[in-house]
Amino acid sequence: METDIDINITRVESSKLKDINLENIPFGKYFSDHMLEADYENGEWKNVEIKPYQPLVIEPSLAALHYGQSIFEGIKAYKDANGEGYIFRPYDNFKRFNISAARMCMPTIPEEIFMEGMKQLVALDKNWIPSKEDHTMYIRPLMFATDTLLGVRPSDTYKFLILLSPSGPYYTSPMKIYVEEKYSRSVKGGAGFSKNAGNYATSMIAAKEARAKGYDQVLWTDPFEHKWLQEVGMMNVMFIIDGVAVTPELSEGTILNGVTRNSAIVLLKEMGIEVQERRLSIDEIVEAYKKGQLNEVFGCGTAATIAPIKELGYGDYRMPFDVETFKIAAKLRKEMDDIRYARIPDTHNWMVKI
Ligand code: COI
Repeated sequence: METDIDINITRVESSKLKDINLENIPFGKYFSDHMLEADYENGEWKNVEIKPYQPLVIEPSLAALHYGQSIFEGIKAYKDANGEGYIFRPYDNFKRFNISAARMCMPTIPEEIFMEGMKQLVALDKNWIPSKEDHTMYIRPLMFATDTLLGVRPSDTYKFLILLSPSGPYYTSPMKIYVEEKYSRSVKGGAGFSKNAGNYATSMIAAKEARAKGYDQVLWTDPFEHKWLQEVGMMNVMFIIDGVAVTPELSEGTILNGVTRNSAIVLLKEMGIEVQERRLSIDEIVEAYKKGQLNEVFGCGTAATIAPIKELGYGDYRMPFDVETFKIAAKLRKEMDDIRYARIPDTHNWMVKI
C-alpha cells in the first residue's frame, strides 16, 4: 500500500540478537530490538515512532491499570526457504483490533499506522524471524488507556504499541481439556468477541483449577446451562464428528472470530470436508464419542495454530483420544504451514510480503 505516513525510526546501537538462539526459544519470552509506539491525544494519533524496545514510564493512576481498557492482537511472521519474510493475514487482525477497540470504547487505529507500522517494524527486525519449523515471530499489537484519573469513563488518551517476539511453539504436546461448568468466559451482550485483556484475566482461575485436576485448559460452555460450547482455553475449537467439521457459530458475539478458525474453515472446505458452524452442545459431543463418531478434537488459534486435544473430561467422564489418528488435523496443519512458510502458492492472498 502506498502511504504518506511519517514514521520516525531510531535504531539500536547494537542488536541483542547475538545473545539469543532462535532455534530454541519458548513462546513470548524474548522481544526483538525494536518496537513501534504511537499516542492518541486530542482526537488524533501522533508521535508514530519505531525505537529500541524499552520500558514505558507510566503513572500509578494510569486508567488501563484500574479499569482495564486494554486490547491486543496476535499475528505471526514467517520466513521462507529463501529468507523472504511474510506476515500471515494481518489485515484480518487489523479489522478485528478495531472491532475490539469499538467494544471497549477506545478509538480505532488508522490502517496506515497498524499495517505500515507493522511492516516497517518487521522489516527492520527481519533477522529476528526464526527459520526453524514451528518457530515464528509473534507480533503483538496492543492499545491501552493512558489517562491518569480515577473517574470511571472512557479515557481521552491512549498508547498503541507493536512488539515482536520470536517464539517457539505455544503448546509442545497435545492438551487435556476439562469441560468448564463453574466459571463463564462470555455471555451474549458481553465482550467475548473482542480481544480485550479482561477476557484473559477472568479466564485464568478456570485454567488454574483445571490444572489442579490434571488438565491443561478448559472447554468454555455457555453461562446459563453450561451446555453450549464456546472456545477452548484461548482458542476456537473444532470437532470432527463422523467426518464433518463442526465448530461453534459466532452470531451471539460470545466467541472470538478467529483468523486461524477462518483459515481452517476455508482450507477444510477446499479439502472437500463439510464444515458446519452451528450451536454445539456437550451432550452431542458425549453421544458422538459413545457411538465412536467423535473422530478428532482440536483448538485453532494464532499462537498454537492447530492444537490436538488428547482428552476431554466432563465431570467424572473421560474421553481419551489417540491423536496419532487425527488425519484431518494433521492435514490441515500441514496445509497451513505450507502456505505460511511459502512452500505452496498462496492462492488466498493471505501472505503479506515485507
Ligand atoms: C493467540 O492465539 O494469539 C492468542 O490469543 C493466545 C495468546 C493470548 C497467547
